[in-house]
Amino acid sequence: RGCKLVGCGSAVPCLQISNDDLAKIVDTNDEWISIRTGIRNRRVLSGRESLTVLAAEAAKKALEMAEVDPDDVDLVLMCTSTPDDLFGSAPQIQKALGCKNNPLAYDITAACSGFVLGLVSAACHIRGGGFKNVLVIGADALSRHVDWTDRGSCILFGDAAGAVLVQACDSEEDGLFAFDLHSDGEGQRHLKATIRENETDHVLGTNGSAVGFPPKNSSFSCIQMNGKEVFRFAVRVVPQSIECALEKSGLTGSNIDWLLLHQANQRIIDAVATRLEVPSERILSNLANYGNTSAASVPLALDEAVRSGKVRTGHTIAAAGFGAGLTWGSAIIRW
Ligand code: ACO
Repeated sequence: RGCKLVGCGSAVPCLQISNDDLAKIVDTNDEWISIRTGIRNRRVLSGRESLTVLAAEAAKKALEMAEVDPDDVDLVLMCTSTPDDLFGSAPQIQKALGCKNNPLAYDITAACSGFVLGLVSAACHIRGGGFKNVLVIGADALSRHVDWTDRGSCILFGDAAGAVLVQACDSEEDGLFAFDLHSDGEGQRHLKATIRENETDHVLGTNGSAVGFPPKNSSFSCIQMNGKEVFRFAVRVVPQSIECALEKSGLTGSNIDWLLLHQANQRIIDAVATRLEVPSERILSNLANYGNTSAASVPLALDEAVRSGKVRTGHTIAAAGFGAGLTWGSAIIRW
């Protein structure tokens, strides 16, 4: 039993924030941000918008492209680290799409690697679990967790949603060739948004009795990032991972039509492409317009490339995600 990608869609918030807009709130400028990252604009959710609505919009477009009815979806995977509901938002997307047969819907948390992990999960559910139509959504609103006083990180992120429909097919039509997935908890110190310790550590006294009960409600700290370490990590592990996935599929960098990396920094994308000997005209990048949209970045760039006619039926794509966790992974896909 094989599985293939049959539709894609994306959605972004209305509010656009330029580098010049950011220069009004932190000590930065358009030239620094453009040269160091390749980013010029990003979209940010306003108070009235919800990530669930954005994700449902992207998923609806993917279903329309695939000409599949919401009632025929049997699994919804929402890859996000910034859900509207701490308990998971996939069931709300299922509800918004009007899937009447109560398909399974759950969230996957793996930051910027989330979408690639979602693809792998979809393939496992189809190959081993008998599922037929699996929606994989990557959506994040990191703007909710950014420290808007930290010029080293706030310039990078944007909000967005992207989706694909993965469908069961005969093995000869299989469009998800190979994967390579990893994580390294040791590296968490370089990129994290952890629970605030001072709000939880006063509850248990030394003799085991409750002190200061009830506890305050918990909240998470803003994103804390060592940009240089994350940069080094990405340019080291991503080429290795893609090479591994390519080898499993019997391909090399010269066989792929497109390189589609998590859109974190144009310098990371270019360094990985150089290492894999992929020429610049075969790189998919829309980072300049949207910044780093975490789990949304790969399906957002894919959707733009498909709709603009760059990516066509039969094209082979090497896709990779990397980020907090630390997590990273690659997938070799045929569109
Ligand atoms: N504007 C102007 N100057 C700045 C800014 C800014 N926005 N930010 C930092 N600087 C200054 C620094 O203070 C430093 O000044 P100094 O030399 O006087 O000390 C100088 O610019 C150089 O700073 P660096 O941090 O060394 O700059 P670098 O070239 O490493 O670029 C960046 C920083 C863009 C963050 C880069 O390291 C990067 O992109 N790293 C990867 C980050 C990433 O991808 N994170 C997300 C992962 S995905 C996920 O899971 C969420």
